Amino acid sequence: MKRILNLIAAALLAINVYSQSPAVFVVKANQPVAPIQPTMWGIFFEDINFAADGGIYAELVKNRSFEFYKSLMGWREDSSSRFSNNMRSGYTTIINRSKDNPSNPRFARINVLADKGYGLTNEGFRGMGLKKDMVYHFSILASQHDGSNTAVRIELKDSAGKIIGNTRINPSGKEWKKYTADIVSSATDSKGAMTVWFEGKGILDIDMVSLFPADTWKNRQGGLRADLVQLLADMKPGFVRFPGGCIVEGHELSNRYQWKKTVGNVDSRELIINRWNREFDHRPAPDYFQSFGLGFFEYFQLSEDVGAEPLPILNCGMACQFNSAELVPLDELDPYIQDALDLIEFANAGTDTKWGKLRADMGHTAPFNLKMMGVGNEQWGPQYAERYKIFAKAIHEKYPEIKLVSSVGPFAGGELFNFLDKEMRDMKADILDEHYYMPPEFFLKNAKRYDKYDRNGPKIFAGEYASHVRGTDGTQRNTWQAALSEAAFMTGLERNADVVYMCSYAPLFSHVDAWQWAPDLIWFDNLNSYGTPNYYVQKLFATNKGTHVVSISQNNEVIAGQDSIYASAAIDKSTNELVIKLVNASAVEKKTIIQLDGIKKIKQKAKLVSLTAGQLDAKNSIQSPAAVSPAETELEIKESKPLVTIAPYSLQVMRIKMN
Ligand code: AHR
Repeated sequence: MKRILNLIAAALLAINVYSQSPAVFVVKANQPVAPIQPTMWGIFFEDINFAADGGIYAELVKNRSFEFYKSLMGWREDSSSRFSNNMRSGYTTIINRSKDNPSNPRFARINVLADKGYGLTNEGFRGMGLKKDMVYHFSILASQHDGSNTAVRIELKDSAGKIIGNTRINPSGKEWKKYTADIVSSATDSKGAMTVWFEGKGILDIDMVSLFPADTWKNRQGGLRADLVQLLADMKPGFVRFPGGCIVEGHELSNRYQWKKTVGNVDSRELIINRWNREFDHRPAPDYFQSFGLGFFEYFQLSEDVGAEPLPILNCGMACQFNSAELVPLDELDPYIQDALDLIEFANAGTDTKWGKLRADMGHTAPFNLKMMGVGNEQWGPQYAERYKIFAKAIHEKYPEIKLVSSVGPFAGGELFNFLDKEMRDMKADILDEHYYMPPEFFLKNAKRYDKYDRNGPKIFAGEYASHVRGTDGTQRNTWQAALSEAAFMTGLERNADVVYMCSYAPLFSHVDAWQWAPDLIWFDNLNSYGTPNYYVQKLFATNKGTHVVSISQNNEVIAGQDSIYASAAIDKSTNELVIKLVNASAVEKKTIIQLDGIKKIKQKAKLVSLTAGQLDAKNSIQSPAAVSPAETELEIKESKPLVTIAPYSLQVMRIKMN
């Protein structure tokens, strides 16, 4: 019976496909509707899912400065530091010198009792990623006690404990000094480790025990993981929003993000707990902290490296309202506002200013050209409106050219959204930051969301969005179904480029063994990384942005879900091309004739990039990183009216050269 029903269904489908006459889509290529902002498609970076420490920040040692609340978390005594009678060849104590060094109070005192030496092994971030023939830069701060001459031997180990590289250093003298040595790994292992041996009876104080691969992005010492930055650079993002997200707000105000504590020498950046450490009971991450090796200077530099505008988001005197919801009283907001003003000085001012000088001392004499800044993250209620007002007045008085991004709450609609949307519009806010983490159906139904927005009001930043497929979790959530629904919705964002100025998928990064939140745009382990189908959708939109939106319509209506098809079109004045994006959200192939009005001549061959997958639940993985990825072909155009077949469940991007 089931077989007969299937046959009937297949026959009906076939009749439907063959009886379809192509729909006619009309593109008015000579009538630009609005410019598309260079910032249209960007990146949202937050240190969630081990995105920074254990992720893009290439440091391999976890708890390098012994500041985690359990001082030796990530470290363990090497088993051969014990004798058969269970006596130890040494021991570690933790000293707190907070008076002398409040931002890096703790260090480890290594007491070596026996000549055979005493070893501490660091496990890395769910293992250490080590590559064959790669050079690793080891460094340590050390101070030798009077009469002691303890040497340091460093071993890289594979996951079976086999030594795959080693080196040694000989610290001398009582004053703290930095010692460095290089090690070459003789094997590849994504779950390696490092043992530091202390040899020769005596006492050695150590701090900032660090190991970086040499192949960081732009080969910067102590820099970022090159494969992960490359994935970002390939997207050609218009902006980088940092450092989040709820991390800006903190669980409590005491662990909010404070940019001033993330700049200057890395060993004086005060480590704090990561607010995602204890957010979700089902995904505990007790070893999740923020070392701030990736701090605000590095965020600005990253933005510059990938050709994007920097968009820092600052705390506005409010802790996360889903957590403690602590508020700073209105008459105590000054230090928070000063942080915002000083950040503009850090980014833009001359080197004759306090903060401009720090930027130059850190290696960037030229300004970073900061143009916009976010006041608070996902805040809601009158308490936000009154704080935003004070911030906006102070910032705009001193820096009228800086555009401010303001919150309209955590949801796409409802009471919280409506309240702030009105308040912010009444205050003539510059840019409203909308967030929506919703199921695929929401994205398919809401492609017209911005069609009716006030063209004279604030501009829109779709600052955090992602399609969440129910009943899935972890890497399994980044399905083609989710990505396709985002693509459909994004045609609506692009069509409304006169009001939507910026958009970013969220969150950006996730460690396959250490995530808290899914789906995410890019997944990685300690050695490899891959873009999800959602990544390829973002990349296709961003790299085929065009400079001006033009209209594409069917029967004089925008194409936003009729017959499951979504469309947007733009021209690129810099390359003289017409760029058309078509999404087919159905299981049935669709044919359409594209009528190109207002173009006299076109090149007969167009470029067609197609992103599709056989199954809606298709996904990419570390093993198959490009299972769902774009394929490029040529499209023959006859009589200036391309006939396009839109494959089932696909995004098609067409670039037509106009003469
Ligand atoms: O992207 C993950 C979180 O979602 C962000 O930190 C927050 O802004 C939102 O609730």
